[in-house]
Amino acid sequence: GAPVEVDVGKLAPGEMMTVEWRGKPVWILRRTEDMLASLDKAEDKVSDPSSDKPMQPAYAKNKHRSIKPEFLVAVGICTHLGCSPSEKFKPGAEGGMSADWPGGFLCPCHGSMFDLAGRVYKSMPAPDNLEIPPHQYLADTTILVG
Ligand code: FES
Repeated sequence: GAPVEVDVGKLAPGEMMTVEWRGKPVWILRRTEDMLASLDKAEDKVSDPSSDKPMQPAYAKNKHRSIKPEFLVAVGICTHLGCSPSEKFKPGAEGGMSADWPGGFLCPCHGSMFDLAGRVYKSMPAPDNLEIPPHQYLADTTILVG
């Protein structure tokens, strides 16, 4: 598949868009300050906080799992058996999430929970953090995925 060029300049803080790359959904989430702060709250609850596993690109090996903290670029496919996790951005809001849920993604198939950097919570069926696809910035708000 060819690389996909994406203009993320129109994404408002807190908004997410999905583009297709190699037949996979790639999420681009523009994280707010609150969303970035939620990553600290999740730090000791996720199993691989710095994405040390080898299949991650170098720029995903940090708390934000991104080149720029503001923009998460991740493949929206659960690393367990490939379902599509859904957005659960609001703390304690929907789907019976507990009041201390700092927001993230929830897989409907077997309940794996991910934070807003796609880091999987401990003791979930999904073995790994969500995949970060290869990507780069061509300009300030132009991303090339692939
Ligand atoms: Fe997502 Fe099983 S496919 S938890």
